[in-house]
Amino acid sequence: MSLDRMFDSAAGAAAKTQGDCITIRRPDDWHVHLRDGDMLRSVLPFTAAQFARGIIMPNLVPPVTTPEMAAAYRARIVAALPEGSDFQPLMTCYLTDTTSPDAIERGYAEGIWVAAKLYPAGATTNAHHGVTSIIGIAPVLERMERIGMKLLIHGEATDPSVDIFDREAVFMETELLPLLVRHPGLKVVVEHATTAETLDIVRANAVRAAATITPHHLVINRTSIFQGGLRPHLYCLPVAKRECHRLALRAAATSGEACFFIGTDTAPHPRRNKERECCAAGAFVGASALQCYVQVFDEEGVLDRFEAFASLNGARFYGLEANSGTITLQRRPSHVPQAVPIDGDEVVVFRGGEILPWSIAEVRA
Ligand code: DOR
Ligand code: ZN
Repeated sequence: MSLDRMFDSAAGAAAKTQGDCITIRRPDDWHVHLRDGDMLRSVLPFTAAQFARGIIMPNLVPPVTTPEMAAAYRARIVAALPEGSDFQPLMTCYLTDTTSPDAIERGYAEGIWVAAKLYPAGATTNAHHGVTSIIGIAPVLERMERIGMKLLIHGEATDPSVDIFDREAVFMETELLPLLVRHPGLKVVVEHATTAETLDIVRANAVRAAATITPHHLVINRTSIFQGGLRPHLYCLPVAKRECHRLALRAAATSGEACFFIGTDTAPHPRRNKERECCAAGAFVGASALQCYVQVFDEEGVLDRFEAFASLNGARFYGLEANSGTITLQRRPSHVPQAVPIDGDEVVVFRGGEILPWSIAEVRA
């Protein structure tokens, strides 16, 4: 059976809306920051309660650059899982100017990592070891193209003279489009898309390109960051854009198009690093992601398309089977905790303290 057919019938088999409940295949989070140590232990249970699998971002200190580091990090994640959890971490390699094509291939062939992450040097949190010249890593990208390994891209220009609200658009024009031409067989995921133009570029290249969309970029726009004063917990990168872009993101996520899928970009930082003179970029959405996403689909009147975005499109792009278990979400108010304690501090939850209209009712493995 072709992949398309397989997923069509899978969708038909699992997705069920009954009264105030929707049951879908268990979803995956194709973009997660789990951190390490105490933070990992504090935030992992939330992601593991919502998702069956996660693509784990490699921007630790130091970054995850070798198969050995990725295997050791995966073991630390598995060891930190709550008892009985079957959450599966899918590892990534942090690309640097000196990444070797052989190491990339070895980690992929040995099943240690499934993708590599391209951070333009300095673009975001812990990106200072990132790539200074994308052309400079052509041998790595050629090898990935040959072996079918996906490239995950933080798409923002790093030239400090570029306006922060234009950084994604400039990157797409000056870096992404030429890269797609230079490496026609390379499969890419544009992570956390935030502009209408990015979505159109992905659509135009949908055979080999996809985009993840975060819950927060579906909910806030750039004005939200300044609502009543400066709100550090809504500051993330790429920064939220104008309302017209938020609406374009909602239209794309809820469209059913196969090139768009969940990637929460849950990025926890201790409160003290958010509420300081220079606030760290990132929103912790791990505890409220699915409730936010399903609310968007409900508001747009397309709950029947939620399963494709949450549970099918990403798996298909990565060449993996959809999960066999199910999750049931219910239109029943749920309270989101304000914050999650971590060693001597806490992490503020996106929409924490609010009553959300949807809750997670049941997960079946
Ligand atoms: O806001 C962000 N936070 N964007 C990123 O790309 C990285 C992330 C983090 O690791 O905190
Ligand atoms: Zn991220």
